[in-house]
Amino acid sequence: MIRKSDVLGWLSSVQHPGQGDKSIVSLGLVQDIEITENSVKVVLAFPKKPDPLKQYLVGAARAAVYRNAPGGVEVEVESIVKEPASSAPKPLEFNLEQLRNVAHIIGIASGKGGVGKSTVAVNLAVALARLGYKVGLADADVYGPSIPTMTGTEGIDIQMIGATDDQNLFVPVEKYGVKWLSVGHVTPPGQALIWRGPMASTALKQIVLQTDWGVLDYLLIDMPPGTGDIHISLIGDVPMTGAVIVTTPQEVALADVLRGVNMFRNPQVNKPIYGLIENMSWFTPAEHPEEKYYLFGKDGGASMAKKLDIPLLGQIPLVQSIRESGDDGEPAALGSRPDSMAFLDLARKLAESV
Ligand SMILES: Nc1ncnc2c1ncn2[C@@H]1O[C@H](COP(=O)(O)OP(=O)(O)OP(=O)(O)O)[C@@H](O)[C@H]1O
Ligand SMILES: [Mg+2]
Repeated sequence: MIRKSDVLGWLSSVQHPGQGDKSIVSLGLVQDIEITENSVKVVLAFPKKPDPLKQYLVGAARAAVYRNAPGGVEVEVESIVKEPASSAPKPLEFNLEQLRNVAHIIGIASGKGGVGKSTVAVNLAVALARLGYKVGLADADVYGPSIPTMTGTEGIDIQMIGATDDQNLFVPVEKYGVKWLSVGHVTPPGQALIWRGPMASTALKQIVLQTDWGVLDYLLIDMPPGTGDIHISLIGDVPMTGAVIVTTPQEVALADVLRGVNMFRNPQVNKPIYGLIENMSWFTPAEHPEEKYYLFGKDGGASMAKKLDIPLLGQIPLVQSIRESGDDGEPAALGSRPDSMAFLDLARKLAESV
């Protein structure tokens, strides 16, 4: 079956000669795509101002889809006129429409930075997909989005699709069976770091709420490190079903874990915590796979989980291949090494806990 993202890809080869050869997709002209077993229907929405190239673009769009679709598929391209949005700029209004078909929305949080939250989130997403679930991951880390690098999707041109007359939606990137969208995908490198306060909040809400996620079993949200205002605002606006906390076994991380847990257990929020993941539990050198060195202490996360009455979902060792696969954009959970299996185990436990 043809996917919407395929059709968008084909349509992005159709350029508008009157608008600096930008593609009809990036110009936001694609209003709707309907796909059935043997037909594809595309609706292009043009501004009220007459566009002399309209007929040409409709024809070119039809040809682009026809050329790429399997034989026998009927192709129809319709053009409509977009009603102008009211002239006063409207404040961005978010609704929860795009999350309608998402069964579970899980925040991946940590009190402390650098504990491997993004690494765990990416590998958990890939592992859940390997188990057959439909999975998406929203990288809401406005200060240091790392998902594009960890998934080898940096620099990818994110497409937009029109949902209503005045709202365009991001189309997430699909790779390794997961739909990814990061603040880093939609901003020039370096810019994410300068966002503060309300702008940062808006940006990360857009990533979650203004995206065409489609039907998902799990949408994971890689939250920014810490427990500040931006987290409270995210938790307030996104209907998360629950959370997972990532920590290292260190004693000093305990206070941060407690803060993270309280953020979700606070009576006004009151979301379940599906579990704690202890990362960097021990170090195992590649050449001595049977040895374990407890660099950050032993079972710190496990005892925290017990103390806080949260299930321990798993312990992930510190191994060079996990770091390397993150840097190379090929998540460790894709493979069949022991550390890949650890992530699959984690995914199974999470699905059970949810
Ligand atoms: N289990 C592991 N084994 C080896 N390296 C790891 C492991 N977990 C994380 N790392 C490495 O540690 C570094 C930090 O990890 P990561 O970016 O996932 O942390 P984070 O908690 O998301 O950080 P931030 O707070 O900046 O968002 C990365 O270079 C990553 O590859
Ligand atoms: Mg991170």
